[in-house]
Amino acid sequence: MNIKICLLPGDGIGPEIITQAVRVLEKTATHFTHTIETQTALIGGVAIDAVGEPLPKATIAACQSSDAVLLGAVGGPKWDNIDPAIRPEKGLLGIRKALGLFANLRPAVLFPELVKASYLRPDIVRQGLDIMVVRELTGGAYFGEPRGETIINGERAAFNTMIYAESEIERIVRMACEIAMKRSKRLCSVDKANVLDVSRLWREVTIRTAAEYPDVQLSHMYVDNAAMQLIRDPSQFDVLVTENLFGDILSDEASMLTGSIGMLPSASMGADGPALFEPIHGSAPDIAGQDKANPLATILSVSMLLRYSFGLEAEALAIEKAVQSVLAQGYRTGDIYVGEGTQVGCAAMGSLVVDAIG
Ligand code: IPM
Ligand code: MG
Repeated sequence: MNIKICLLPGDGIGPEIITQAVRVLEKTATHFTHTIETQTALIGGVAIDAVGEPLPKATIAACQSSDAVLLGAVGGPKWDNIDPAIRPEKGLLGIRKALGLFANLRPAVLFPELVKASYLRPDIVRQGLDIMVVRELTGGAYFGEPRGETIINGERAAFNTMIYAESEIERIVRMACEIAMKRSKRLCSVDKANVLDVSRLWREVTIRTAAEYPDVQLSHMYVDNAAMQLIRDPSQFDVLVTENLFGDILSDEASMLTGSIGMLPSASMGADGPALFEPIHGSAPDIAGQDKANPLATILSVSMLLRYSFGLEAEALAIEKAVQSVLAQGYRTGDIYVGEGTQVGCAAMGSLVVDAIG
C-alpha cells in the first residue's frame, strides 16, 4: 500500500517528536512492505514567522491532497502577545474546521509498566484503565458565534457562545456508539444539563440517537461529577462522549491517570477525507530543542493513523507492541521516569521503538 501523509511538525517540541514518529512509520512500512510518501507543511507559530498567518492556504491544500495528516504541536511564548486573530492555536482550530474533523478520539490507556508513574494510588489504578474519550471538535464554545468583546455598563466584557445544532450532536453520538459497540458497549455522555440549555439539548439528542443502538448502555453524568469520578474510580468508564470544551479538559485529566500526557495519542476524524493524528499534549516550549520530549504519544498517533486511516491493524499493533516492549525493558523519558530503569532522551526513545519493530 502507498501511505501518503502530510506532516505538520509545528512549534516547540513538535519537530523533534515528529522526526521520531516518522522513523517509526518508515521502519513499520519497510517491515510490512508498504511505501510512504510524505510532504511537510507549515502550521502555528512557524507559519506566522514564515508567511504571517498560522494556517496558510498551501497547508490546507497539502492536507487535502494526502490520505492522513500527522501533527506535532502548536504555540509558544514567542507568539503569546500576538493579535488573537492569528494566534498559533488558530492554525490548529482552523485545520480541524477546514477538514471537517468533528470527532476527536482520545484513548487513555495505562500501560501496566507505568502503574508507578500514574498520579493515582496503586490500588485504584491496578484495577486497570482503558478509557476512550470521544470529544466533539468543531463546535461548542470554541467556534460558536457571536463571540468577542463589548462594553457593558461602561466596562469591558467578553463572551463566547456554547452552541450545538441537533445534527452536530447526532453525528458525534453516532460515532461514539459505533466505538462503544466495538468495546464494552458502555457509553457515558458528559454534560451540564442541570445548568446549561445547550446541555439539555445535548442530552435529549443523545438519548434519541443512542436509541438507534439498543445494545449500547447509555448513561449520563454532569461534567463536574465526571471530573471527580475520573480520579475516584476511573475503571467505571469505558467510552465517554462530550462536547468540545468539556472534552478538552477531561482528556487532559484522564492523561494524568496514565502517568503522563506525553503518552496519549489522538485521532481527529470527519465524515470523509483525510483524518488528523496528533499527541494530546502541547508544544512544551520549556523543553523544546533539548532532546527531552517523550515521542511516544506521537508514535502511538502513528499507530492510530495506520489503524483508522488505512485499516492496517497488524501494523498498528506492531507499533503498540514495540512501545510496550521498550517500556517493559525499563526505558523512560523524563516525564515517566520515577527513579527506576533507564532514563533516555527523545531520539534514543525513538531508536528503541524503531529497533523493537519487526
Ligand atoms: C488540545 C489543545 C488545543 C485545544 C489547543 C492547543 C487549541 O489543548 O488539542 O487539546 O484546546 O483543542
Ligand atoms: Mg487540550
